[in-house]
Amino acid sequence: MSDTAFNLIAPYIQRASGRSLWLADENLLSANISANEAVIAITNRIDLEQHLYRQGWKVFFSDYDLSIIEDNSLDSVIYRVSKEKPVVHHLINEAFRCLKPEGKLYIAGEKGEGIKTYFSKAKKLFGEGETSKADKNTWSATLTKLNASSEDLLDAKDFHQLRVTASDETFEYYSKPGVFGWDKIDRGSAYLIEHLDSFLMTLPEPPRNALDLGCGYGYLSLNLSHLDIPVTATDNNAAALKACERNFNRYPINGKVVPASCAEGITEKFDLILCNPPFHAGFSVDGDLTDRFLKAAHDRLNGRGVACFVTNMHIPLERKAKQFFHQAECIASNGNFKLIRLTHKT
Ligand SMILES: C[S@@+](CC[C@H](N)C(=O)[O-])C[C@H]1O[C@@H](n2cnc3c(N)ncnc32)[C@H](O)[C@@H]1O
Repeated sequence: MSDTAFNLIAPYIQRASGRSLWLADENLLSANISANEAVIAITNRIDLEQHLYRQGWKVFFSDYDLSIIEDNSLDSVIYRVSKEKPVVHHLINEAFRCLKPEGKLYIAGEKGEGIKTYFSKAKKLFGEGETSKADKNTWSATLTKLNASSEDLLDAKDFHQLRVTASDETFEYYSKPGVFGWDKIDRGSAYLIEHLDSFLMTLPEPPRNALDLGCGYGYLSLNLSHLDIPVTATDNNAAALKACERNFNRYPINGKVVPASCAEGITEKFDLILCNPPFHAGFSVDGDLTDRFLKAAHDRLNGRGVACFVTNMHIPLERKAKQFFHQAECIASNGNFKLIRLTHKT
């Protein structure tokens, strides 16, 4: 993987001594960097945790819960900024708390990702900072903790708090920063649910169980609760899993939430699979991700089962699906989204 911004700060991970922390996110899903004993890594993606663990890193998977690290205890923190502002703000604030006086925070990112603004806010909080550039768009910055007061903390939107962020006639949905589209109902998913009843009528028999692949805060799963069947919801993102658990505890759904990357490790087969697949990993478009979601649906769908994917019109899902499924048919579209019905048999 080559990410210019990450390349600017990777040497600090390799050279770190004392006690250091690497905050790793989905932008670095295929990072190959040899383990440094002085550094612990924290990531909110289970696939990245597994990847780094295999490379020998001491790594923790959590919704960026840094409470395991004491105040004023670290020499350095290294962080390639994430996509979402509240996540970045939360991690800059936490780096400030965890660093010793004169400890260093190394951050990097692109201008279009807001690195200039993150730098100037962080400089106010920390007291001192300087930048360097790989090119006119890609910056890194070193912040030194000179201030003791935390009065200039960045607005992290109460990062850890689950709250009702969206609702419809049937449900109030709990979510939080760090979940994909955390404060709204995804329009593609809403389109799928609008057509759910007519889609279910195309099934050879009523489903006896269901899989919500890439569940986010659990919108699709909750909208299956009237079927009164066991639902497995799975995602690779710690914040999504936490929000989905919260929603499952709130409503009478026979559901379980499983941390996994593309359902890896789930062995059960399902009669029904619903999916609104991602096509971005961090800042980059990842075409391969669609294939991995299709493969996961193929592997987890039983012989008589039916899967329904919703995607943007421009994604050639039917064509991609042909390598995994006997039939891939567009059953509805509205100019923005389409629903694709996938089966092993005709
Ligand atoms: C377009 S969102 C749909 C979310 C949810 N189903 C909804 O309807 O609101 C795609 C979801 O896939 C998840 N995702 C991305 N990569 C994944 C992976 N490798 N394994 C499992 N889930 C993943 C994201 O965290 C996100 O929650």
